[in-house]
Amino acid sequence: MSAGYKTVGWNRNKKIYDAIMWIAIVAYIVMFMLVTGAAYAGDEALSPIIVMMRALSTCAFLMLTLLLCIGPAARLNHRFLPLLYNRRHLGVSTFIIALLHAFLAVFWYHSFGSVNPIESVFTSGGSYDTVSDVPFQAFGAIALVILFLLAATSHDYWNTNLGAPLWKALHMLVYPAWILIVLHVLGGALQADDTGLLPILVVGSVALVGGLHIVAAFRRSGADMTSESTDWVDAGPWRNIKNNRAITIDMGNDERVALFRYDDTKLCAVANACQHQNGPLGDGCVKNGKIVCPWHGYEYRPEDGRSPPPFTEKIETYNVKVEGDHVFVQRKALPRGTERPIIQIKDVTHG
Ligand code: HEM
Repeated sequence: MSAGYKTVGWNRNKKIYDAIMWIAIVAYIVMFMLVTGAAYAGDEALSPIIVMMRALSTCAFLMLTLLLCIGPAARLNHRFLPLLYNRRHLGVSTFIIALLHAFLAVFWYHSFGSVNPIESVFTSGGSYDTVSDVPFQAFGAIALVILFLLAATSHDYWNTNLGAPLWKALHMLVYPAWILIVLHVLGGALQADDTGLLPILVVGSVALVGGLHIVAAFRRSGADMTSESTDWVDAGPWRNIKNNRAITIDMGNDERVALFRYDDTKLCAVANACQHQNGPLGDGCVKNGKIVCPWHGYEYRPEDGRSPPPFTEKIETYNVKVEGDHVFVQRKALPRGTERPIIQIKDVTHG
């Protein structure tokens, strides 16, 4: 980080995002309780604790499904990118809702016996010998521990101190957590008399998450195969780029590039994602001769995509050329920190 960096962390967009998310969560839980209350009336009426437990559990499961869909959806369509930038808030909220569900489950099913409640979660309800009898709550408990780990390390502090590759690898554990929860729900359904809409929930989640990941992977490999044929991407007239600002270009191969104009007449192109937390550099600016990330102020030199010493972050750079009044960016990224000659626009007329 550079000396001038300050943590932003919270902004208006994030607040709006969080408000919408929590309104949706509360609305879902209220609706679930009303509909379940109406569906199971009279002799079949369920305890409010069980209904709340189910409202919370299905809500957390849907949130986790959404969480896993955001990555491939944003790769397929950049309109989903704002969801990607705020994904960690959704992750932490998912953990909170899942924790409330687990708390009610432990209280309701495991607190009144002679066995320690935690031991009871791992042993009650069946045996590990037959699939249909497996103590499914153990899967939920392990998944909850993983979700806790991810929520606890979601802050910038951990990203900085663990380093981006390790942090990212750690957060890939969300996939095993999701698989464990699918097993948790299926195991529970096998032991239940009435499964309600649970099979639809699980099949829908698996189809959506799996399908989106497969389509996004195909798109990527297709784009990789065609990328050689169209080497340069037309970014439009350089006059469209405000001085000391950037436009963000979709390179058509799942990559986005920030094309900056600065000092009036200079052009440079770098990867759009900041090394720190993938902040959108194209929404940033050039200040004191450095590209500044809008999220946390990380800085990069336009000529080689390197953070000024003593900092060591590096991003990919791109070749740029000007033909007529159009700017072109070469599709293939250069290795991180590769120095490029600065492109000068010859006939800048002011006003
Ligand atoms: C210590 C951790 C957990 C325990 C003890 C636990 C316990 C339970 C129990 C007892 C049920 C059956 C409830 C019933 O139908 O009466 C259940 C179902 C369910 N759980 Fe968990 N759970 C845990 C963690 C999780 C986590 C982390 C999720 C994540 C989303 C989750 C999602 C679900 C879902 C979707 C169902 C099916 C709907 C339902 O019947 O409530 N559980 N869980």
